[in-house]
Amino acid sequence: MTPMRIDRFLAQCGAGSRSEVKQLLKKGLVLVNGITAEKPETKVIPGQDRITVAGEPVCYEPHEYVMLHKPAGCVTAARDARHKTVMEYLGAEYQADPASGQSAPVLHKADLAPVGRLDRDTEGLLLLTSDGDLAHRMTAPKSHVDKTYFAKVRGFVDEEDILAFASGLEIGEKHPTLPAKLVVLSGGAMSEIELTIQEGKFHQVKRMFAARGKEVLYLKRISMGGVRLDESLLPGQWRRLTAEEIQTLYDACGLPQGHDTKGR
Ligand code: URA
Repeated sequence: MTPMRIDRFLAQCGAGSRSEVKQLLKKGLVLVNGITAEKPETKVIPGQDRITVAGEPVCYEPHEYVMLHKPAGCVTAARDARHKTVMEYLGAEYQADPASGQSAPVLHKADLAPVGRLDRDTEGLLLLTSDGDLAHRMTAPKSHVDKTYFAKVRGFVDEEDILAFASGLEIGEKHPTLPAKLVVLSGGAMSEIELTIQEGKFHQVKRMFAARGKEVLYLKRISMGGVRLDESLLPGQWRRLTAEEIQTLYDACGLPQGHDTKGR
């Protein structure tokens, strides 16, 4: 585990808000390995340093943030009687921590939940976290978090489609879709495109193309909230997010308290 700031550590452990934690430090109630720590920027190593507040030991349960390269054929669910689930790809083995290059602790799989869903046949970036606040904000319609997909589409995707996607499409919902950015990578009988949307309605990308008389034959999410799929991950592989990636997600959904990237 890499060192982190004691104020962030204590806030994560539920000892109080950042400002309450600062007061605890100021009052000399926090000890690190038996020595009073007064400065909020004091670095500690969770799981290694012995930390107490008013004589009580503090247990560290950090949130987990993971990206999975979801393969086709598995469902975005914790359990499913018929199909393999995304959770089954999250092995219990030790993984290299991308931030430090060191071996990181075993993933607490039970606490993880997918951030939004991908269809069974969709591949690509799936984020999973135990941070419920972040997951909620990332998927809340009003957060308008960007999701970018690569797709192979049957039919010639052209300028008219770009304009239609930009102005919103009727896909059988109460309201038309929000403006979406369609980029044609190659047009032809089979077109290749990139599409950025800020919603996550059921089968949204497929339904948007269907509304234009075209069929999505292959779909892969390549980024979400500014975090790109790490293409060095093969389908089925996962890794923890770096501190910078976590901060990017916080920024993308406008969470006020950013992740302490330096202290992670
Ligand atoms: N849109 C879809 O149609 N399917 C997905 O899996 C994600 C977005």
